[in-house]
Amino acid sequence: RFLKASTALVAGLLLAACGKQEPPPAPAASAPASAAPVPEVKTFTVGTDAAYAPFEYQNEKGEIVGFSVDLLTAVAEKAGFKVKFVNTPWEGIFNALAQGDRDILISSITITDERKQTMDFSDPYFDAVQLIAVKDGAKVTKFADLKKLKVGVQTGTTGDEVVTKLQGKTATTTKRFESTPLALKELESGGVDAVVADNGVVIHYVANNPGAKFKTVADSTFAPEQYGLAVKKGNAEALALVNKGLAAIKADGTYAAIYKKTFGVEPPAAAPAA
Ligand code: ARG
Repeated sequence: RFLKASTALVAGLLLAACGKQEPPPAPAASAPASAAPVPEVKTFTVGTDAAYAPFEYQNEKGEIVGFSVDLLTAVAEKAGFKVKFVNTPWEGIFNALAQGDRDILISSITITDERKQTMDFSDPYFDAVQLIAVKDGAKVTKFADLKKLKVGVQTGTTGDEVVTKLQGKTATTTKRFESTPLALKELESGGVDAVVADNGVVIHYVANNPGAKFKTVADSTFAPEQYGLAVKKGNAEALALVNKGLAAIKADGTYAAIYKKTFGVEPPAAAPAA
């Protein structure tokens, strides 16, 4: 017995002396001892309002696809985490983040000072601006022309903000919709005279619905906007991972490839993510 104990002791001392801090022997079924320890891979639940082509939308199979999905999937791959996209209506999306029901939001969300009070944003990944859609024959040439017209917006978006500012908080001419496509459908059927929404979505809709006979009107008074991913205030871990992955895909051309796949052109040179 003494012999056994002392052998173990000597072996232990030798191991310690060699600096070999071997972990306890692995069970037979696990990876060979020579393999690097497998780091824990986090899965983040991602909220997105998937009614926003070409950024986030559902394909015929009901899968959530688009620029945002490709982007965050690539970001996650680079930074070593997994993502699970969950369709989340815009009206409840910030609340879902605050409640912890979603870890990350990617939903073409404009970074604003007001939103920064209640959530943390990643580095910007896309430049946007408001754009007006009207019927082909409309006599609208600038945003101010919409002052007294019926204008459709998606509730709680930056489009809603600018139109509310133009028309006044109590204006009955500001028509708020659950989604941007619903507002655009209403323009098609004549229920509103104009829609104000993010340029990318308006341009996509006009291009894919020639029958709607829309034209777009730009206005230089619209402030430039930038999209960011959002995490719950204080979620430094998720934010750091997202920013790490974003930097990686911007640096290695993945971002440009995803941009080109979605929009058919190279990203503008001055873009935040160029
Ligand atoms: N960029 C605008 C905003 O942040 C509209 C975003 C709407 N996104 C969506 N998936 N419906 O207010």
